[in-house]
Amino acid sequence: MKDNLFIAFEGIDGSGKSTQVKLLSDNLKKAGHKVYSTFEPTDGPIGSVIRNIFNNRIEADHRTIAGLFVADRLDHLLNKTNGILKKLQEGYTVITDRYYFSSYAYHGVHMPMDWVIEANSMSADLLRPDLNIYIDISPEISMNRLSKGRSSMELYETIENLIKVRNKYLEALEQLKFKEKIFITDGNRPSEIIAIDVWNEFHP
Ligand code: ADP
Ligand code: TYD
Repeated sequence: MKDNLFIAFEGIDGSGKSTQVKLLSDNLKKAGHKVYSTFEPTDGPIGSVIRNIFNNRIEADHRTIAGLFVADRLDHLLNKTNGILKKLQEGYTVITDRYYFSSYAYHGVHMPMDWVIEANSMSADLLRPDLNIYIDISPEISMNRLSKGRSSMELYETIENLIKVRNKYLEALEQLKFKEKIFITDGNRPSEIIAIDVWNEFHP
């Protein structure tokens, strides 16, 4: 295994990304790697504007939101305090909960996906994941999981939207299968089983 990797977890809301980020991070640490886990939208200044939109504190058009994610991702990569590029230079394996495939899928519902891919090309040129792990799950199951833990749902968390987002994910993964390293895992299974599936991808 290369010493420090950049790994992105992808999937619709409630697909189990944060759970798998934690499990993979634990496994990599046990194997002796330095691991830095991170997420998008970030907790930086642009990410907090995005969160205010999702919480209905600020109103914004979907195109504006797509643009904010482009900026948030560049800051995620480039900021001098804890940017991903800096962490990789320091020898960390970086695992992110969401990266540009999230933009392709979520914004591809509202505008041409090619525009979204083009708008994110600076990030893709700076850093492509060594592996994009897509957790594929039925939108009904993910909505059930989310509604158990929440009193209110966010902007994109409706069953109709998650069905569309899942279809856009599958479209983007197919379109970019020769350009990107992609691993698809069945997220409808218990988290321990998915974690083994993911781990086996690192130790074939
Ligand atoms: P995401 O980060 O993709 O939104 P989470 O990891 O936060 O997803 O999981 C959403 C909810 O589903 C949490 O309550 C979590 O405990 C639960 N969960 C995660 N993975 C599984 C799984 N494989 N089977 C059942 N429940 C799960
Ligand atoms: P997140 O906090 O990861 O939600 P969850 O843990 O439920 O998956 O992401 C918040 C929302 O941001 C989620 O609905 C997906 C959306 N999103 C986009 O619309 N575009 C993007 O580029 C990214 C990274 C996320």
